[in-house]
Amino acid sequence: MDTRKLGRNGPAVSAIGLGCMGMSDFYGPADRDESIATIHAAIDAGVTLLDTGDFYGMGHNEMLIAEALKDISRDDVVISVKFGAQRGPDGSWLGNDTRPQAVKAAAAYSLKRLGIDHVDIYRPARLDPDVPIEDTVGAIGELVQAGYVRHVGLSEVNAETIRRAHAVHPIADLQIEYSLISRGIEDKILPACRELGIGVTAYGVLSRGLISGHWSKTALQGPDFRAYSPRFQGANLDRNLALVEALRIVAEARDTSVAQVAVAWVLARGDDIVPLVGARQRHRLNEALGALEMSLTDEDLAAIERAVPRDAAAGSRYAPAQMATLDSER
Ligand SMILES: NC(=O)c1ccc[n+]([C@@H]2O[C@H](COP(=O)([O-])OP(=O)(O)OC[C@H]3O[C@@H](n4cnc5c(N)ncnc54)[C@H](OP(=O)(O)O)[C@@H]3O)[C@@H](O)[C@H]2O)c1
Repeated sequence: MDTRKLGRNGPAVSAIGLGCMGMSDFYGPADRDESIATIHAAIDAGVTLLDTGDFYGMGHNEMLIAEALKDISRDDVVISVKFGAQRGPDGSWLGNDTRPQAVKAAAAYSLKRLGIDHVDIYRPARLDPDVPIEDTVGAIGELVQAGYVRHVGLSEVNAETIRRAHAVHPIADLQIEYSLISRGIEDKILPACRELGIGVTAYGVLSRGLISGHWSKTALQGPDFRAYSPRFQGANLDRNLALVEALRIVAEARDTSVAQVAVAWVLARGDDIVPLVGARQRHRLNEALGALEMSLTDEDLAAIERAVPRDAAAGSRYAPAQMATLDSER
């Protein structure tokens, strides 16, 4: 497995990381045994970066990862943890809390649930409008000093916030949505990361399954984040699935799959970008990892961009209430 370095000061990680969120939350029921088998298959294939959040299933995701890693050397994995999102017992969303004392308390609980003595990359999931980013990053910096955290990361923040945070403590990576149909970071955020030597861990590279080539108008079943996601609704979905069909023609001409083209496209955007794939089944993981075998030519990239032009997606990437909480969209 190729490796990529996360920022000037961050760790080297596998060129593709595994996002574990869907194993506990957001995308309907997941099979526990298959989730653990998927984590094991990823590590066997050379994946070293695992991403989670303490609010994914209210601790469930961290405990699942702990179980999967119980016979695996701590040094073989880089564990990225998000914190700050507050949830009620019914799973409801109560806002964010990234005050310094909340940072330290959240870290204490995450270390316990994960069964580890340090987190490799620790990051606030969202900017807390009530807390200066300097205070939050300063508190993570103190955890670094104390040995409980190795690196500081950010998530879904804009260029100005990145600069303010980086002035307090070097930032290893920004985690943010980036895919063929979510390219907003190319304007200001990605250039700022590059100027400062900060890596990008890209999520939503398959747009939560929408551009995986496996989504259909009848795929949504039961409670699911995507039931509220504008890109998965009505006429938007029709338009977006038409883009997928255009991409399928490009993929088939190259004897590969839609998902592989979508992941390979993100990989080709720069060595400082590490796609996080949200596979929770081994066959999905294997498909995504196949993107590492592809090297896209200029001609391939042009064909992909003709099939899916930059702003072709219908619908915003989150529902309006959630978009309003994204510093990265300001
Ligand atoms: N910082 C943030 O704000 C933020 C937000 C969201 C996610 N994340 C992180 O990013 C990770 C990736 O999440 P994502 O949901 O954005 O991932 P994604 O890879 O864009 O989408 C995952 C969805 O696509 C389906 N899929 C279909 N074919 C696939 C294939 N070949 N490989 C992988 N998945 C395939 C998945 O599998 P099924 O068939 O099993 O449904 C799942 O439903 C998360 O796990 C989380 O760690 C971060």
